[in-house]
Amino acid sequence: MSLMSREHIRSVIAAIEVANVEGPLWRPDGDVLNGLSGSKTVGALQRLAGLFANLSDACYLEIGVFQGLTLLSVAGATPSLPCFGIDNFSILDPEGQNLGIVHDRIARLGCDNATLINLDFQDALLSLGDHIGARRVGAYFIDGAHDYRSQFVGLMFALPYLHDNAVIVIDDANYTFVRQSTHDFLVSHPEFKMVFEAYSPAHPANMDAITLARWESDWLNGVNILVRDPDRLLPDMLPPVTANRDLFVNDWLVHRHVLAELAPEALALAAAVIAGDTAAVHDARTCLIAAYAADRPRFDARFPDRNTQSGGLTQGRFNRLSG
Ligand SMILES: C[S@@+](CC[C@H](N)C(=O)[O-])C[C@H]1O[C@@H](n2cnc3c(N)ncnc32)[C@H](O)[C@@H]1O
Repeated sequence: MSLMSREHIRSVIAAIEVANVEGPLWRPDGDVLNGLSGSKTVGALQRLAGLFANLSDACYLEIGVFQGLTLLSVAGATPSLPCFGIDNFSILDPEGQNLGIVHDRIARLGCDNATLINLDFQDALLSLGDHIGARRVGAYFIDGAHDYRSQFVGLMFALPYLHDNAVIVIDDANYTFVRQSTHDFLVSHPEFKMVFEAYSPAHPANMDAITLARWESDWLNGVNILVRDPDRLLPDMLPPVTANRDLFVNDWLVHRHVLAELAPEALALAAAVIAGDTAAVHDARTCLIAAYAADRPRFDARFPDRNTQSGGLTQGRFNRLSG
């Protein structure tokens, strides 16, 4: 049993405990940094990254930079630690301004240790060594796309690059499919243990102003925090998941359907029909038909259902040993 592991796990828990009471460790003067993460989440990231600040082989990594709140809060608090943030600015950026905002904030805050990786997160993780070199990720924050697969891939593809003592902070754990991916990762990787979980009553978009202000100074949309525990010192602790997996089965039913990509528009139409809102039905119907027309050749080339995307694939091939 390793004394180092025990001490490290204690340090991780102590860092989270302080963040849970005190919030951010450091924040810049004025209004240079705002964003979409809770104050306690920011404080935990800063303190957890700080555990690796004096290790020359370590770095901080995050998926989901947005306008730089978490990346630059960590980079500013731990100037000796290289901090990398992955974002392709594919959502929450209708004016296409976020890349410029991040670069501007890096310059204004003088965060020379912050590096933006402007790529899709999967591509970035598959080539992570090209970006972080021989460093290992000590503190890792996952706050990008929140579908089940993206969450799980975010955990799995980073594994070869994680530090022996890595800590993983998973944001938006209010979502059941985020918790499900954390759950599945923990069950399949028992050398990792959850050390902390916290949730709020709803997504911030569904909170009134007073409730939102209260949770913005907290963990906002929920968090799961994991630590590598190779000696299995911690007991098992799993995030709550629903026993009913119908929604995951629905993934399969949607993905194989001729109109799979139109599921969001189709659901908006269904909601308008159920609400009996004639104007909303008209608008949603117009959106659905426009989205269909925009990509019609793709839809028309498919079967009504049970599409497999297997046409043209090999009917059988082996992988053989060389020599
Ligand atoms: C909730 S925001 C991150 C908030 C940020 N951590 C903060 O503190 O303000 C989520 C970010 O994930 C990014 N994102 C979503 N899907 C992505 C993908 N496939 N690859 C890279 N980034 C992605 C979005 O562009 C968005 O900026």
